[in-house]
Amino acid sequence: MTTIDFAPTEPRPVEETVPLVDRRETNPMFNDQKMKLGLFGTNCSYGLIMSHAPTTYEVSWKHTVEIAQRADALGFEALVPVARWKGFGGTTNFNGNCFETYSWAAGLAQATEQIAIFATSHLPTVHPIVAAKAATTIDRISGGRFGLNLVMGWVEPEMAMFGGSQRQHDDRYAFGQEWIDYTNDLWTKPGAFSFHGKYFDGDDVESYPKPHQAPRPALINAGNSKSGIEFSARNVDFNFASLDTLENMRAYTSAIVEKARTDYHRTISPMTYGLVVCRDTEKEAKADFQRVVDDGDWGAAGNVIKMAMSGASQSFDHAKEFQERFIAGWGGYPIVGTPEQCVEEIGKLNEAGMDGIIMGMIDYNEEMKYFGDAVMPLLRQAGLRH
Ligand SMILES: Cc1cc2nc3c(=O)[nH]c(=O)nc-3n(C[C@H](O)[C@H](O)[C@H](O)COP(=O)(O)O)c2cc1C
Repeated sequence: MTTIDFAPTEPRPVEETVPLVDRRETNPMFNDQKMKLGLFGTNCSYGLIMSHAPTTYEVSWKHTVEIAQRADALGFEALVPVARWKGFGGTTNFNGNCFETYSWAAGLAQATEQIAIFATSHLPTVHPIVAAKAATTIDRISGGRFGLNLVMGWVEPEMAMFGGSQRQHDDRYAFGQEWIDYTNDLWTKPGAFSFHGKYFDGDDVESYPKPHQAPRPALINAGNSKSGIEFSARNVDFNFASLDTLENMRAYTSAIVEKARTDYHRTISPMTYGLVVCRDTEKEAKADFQRVVDDGDWGAAGNVIKMAMSGASQSFDHAKEFQERFIAGWGGYPIVGTPEQCVEEIGKLNEAGMDGIIMGMIDYNEEMKYFGDAVMPLLRQAGLRH
């Protein structure tokens, strides 16, 4: 009779069944499109607009899946959600109605075929062991199309919901570094291992299965401060930034690419985000953009800017100039005009070193139909897509 020895000192069999696949084969974030396209904020009430402007957009699962499947069918590369635990007040309670992003990503991984699905994770709110396994599970559901947006948690009132006090800005990135080191170990180290750091301690730790895509899922971060840029250059595949002028973008993108190359011997792709309002005529596009501003929730925008500026060196008065840009696109780069004008503007972003844009739309579901018909062919003609 065979006896099975479960003694803990015996080496345990490990699950290595599915071979790990090079992520360039499974994850469209690593394809060769000159200008990658994605949608941003389709999991949160009001998406990227702090405004009562008319839209059919709503945070229901049916609507969410419809938007995702449209983006998937058009060959978009990315769906990036916003991680939010509490609204920003005002008359909209902007983003207050918000799907949790790992579970959102799992559902959309099953509902789509080729697009990369991200979760956005506030690192202090989730232990690396839980995050690594959730990420792996979604990666397996999607066949290697998962990615993680690493955020440190800058909104004080929502971090307070988790208890304790918020770390100082640069300490958040120190914590984030240890978090991602541990998570990378969980994704890649065979068998059991120990991890001892300042914030995390674990002996005889293991995590199986490993992600479907090797060496690990796509990582993004939107750090734009000195410590944020350092974190991005050292750890992630894509950095997100929106700057006021194309000239500033050019300086930013070349600096971060150079930093990653010289300091960490790695490559990083800069990308940006913004509200896209594309219509048959420039007049219509400008009018719809203006409607967002005119019906804007200035209370919510003021709250966002106040929080963003707390502890920052610039004064709040200076930030007020950008209130409009927050109302219409979360501070992103606005793209407003005819299909030709929108493509021209997207081309300029690309020339400024941006390898992609994740977009907000006033009415994602309806406008994606138009984007597919009117803008995608012109992007191909312009050589920005194939
Ligand atoms: C595209 C993009 C997505 C972001 N997503 C979130 C998010 O979902 N939740 C969040 O709390 N912060 C989010 N942020 C904020 C950033 O993580 C970061 O804190 C901010 O850009 C400021 O940079 P810094 O941390 O280097 O100061 C996002 C920023 C950008 C540009």
